[in-house]
Amino acid sequence: MKLNRNYFNLQESYLFSTIAHKVEDYQKKNPEQKIIRMGIGDVTRPLCPKVVEAMQQAALEMGQESTFRGYGPEQGYAFLREDIRGYYANRGVALQEDEIFISDGAKSDLGNILDLFSADNSVLIPNPVYPVYVDTNVMAGRRISYLFANRENQFLPMPDLSQPADIIYLCSPNNPTGAVYNKEQLAEWVRYARKQHALILFDAAYEAFVQDPLPHSIFEIEGAKQCAIEFCSLSKTAGFTGTRCGYTVVPNDLVFENAGLNKLWLRRQTTKFNGVPYVVQKAASAVFTEEGQQQVRQNIAYYQQNAAVISSTLQELGIWFIGGRNSPYIWMQCPKGLGSWQFFDILLEKCGVVGTPGSGFGSAGEGYFRLTAFGSHDDTKEAMTRFSHIIVNL
Ligand code: MLT
Repeated sequence: MKLNRNYFNLQESYLFSTIAHKVEDYQKKNPEQKIIRMGIGDVTRPLCPKVVEAMQQAALEMGQESTFRGYGPEQGYAFLREDIRGYYANRGVALQEDEIFISDGAKSDLGNILDLFSADNSVLIPNPVYPVYVDTNVMAGRRISYLFANRENQFLPMPDLSQPADIIYLCSPNNPTGAVYNKEQLAEWVRYARKQHALILFDAAYEAFVQDPLPHSIFEIEGAKQCAIEFCSLSKTAGFTGTRCGYTVVPNDLVFENAGLNKLWLRRQTTKFNGVPYVVQKAASAVFTEEGQQQVRQNIAYYQQNAAVISSTLQELGIWFIGGRNSPYIWMQCPKGLGSWQFFDILLEKCGVVGTPGSGFGSAGEGYFRLTAFGSHDDTKEAMTRFSHIIVNL
């Protein structure tokens, strides 16, 4: 028996596990300190009433012989796919129901989609980036080249024809930087991908945070259905980080080497996946009702208020940052030239506030730091008061 030795090329632990262990150690040594967590992008607002009601109703159905359900369709129930089709249609994007696949979240699909592609493909990944894109390709032994994001390009790197690639990852609104591509910029990416016969894997997990007239989906761009797959999730949109439901759009027009990727993905899912629980899909469906939309919008607005508090604190302190307006993430430059982990340790040890070191998202994140707006109002204000105190006394 031989191991997949590519695993030995991974960093020892996943970024957020490393942080969790550091925080746990610190808490053990300082049991009195109230730690405020602005590190991992995990939501804190409870599921909205419409979602809970739908879950309860579905649980009751599962307990009655006449309405009980066993295996569902691997690609998701038609009712939820139809809701998602309607959600896209409201934004002027026409999808067919069989282009939508329900899953337990974007992270799984982003990893699983790689089953479809040869290990010989070259992959272009922004730096800094959500670590899952890099790690899943390292596990498969693919060649990775990086697309550097920095202050000069406002953390929105653009394609470079001298840098060829077969698979390109884009995330907008971006995790970790909160930067958002506009329509023209995404159109340039679509043109580049089509010219190169490359595939874009587009992560739209944070689309619900877009409040300015900026694209929510790559499929708002003409020609994207010939070169892109989109991953989305209800984790951040509707507080489903613990409930688990997402969706992936694989257009029927997506053809490589004369094979439709939609059919391949269906084949993969029907073989390796038995679908998302009925109760969860019913809960997800409630998100797309008028009342559900109003309720989830209230939670998003709540987080956006936190983002505004963080942003105004950084502005007052004269610290450079981006994000926060169309994203729950604020990406700031570490003060006084500190390194990302140095700043992480100072914040944790001196004021009990946890963020994510920018370098954890890639080498180009060194010297930067990510704060999330997913806490409570009180915790966010308290964290910013402690934060300001530390910064002015650095
Ligand atoms: C993050 O903090 O970057 C996210 O929580 C990661 C995720 O959604 O898996």
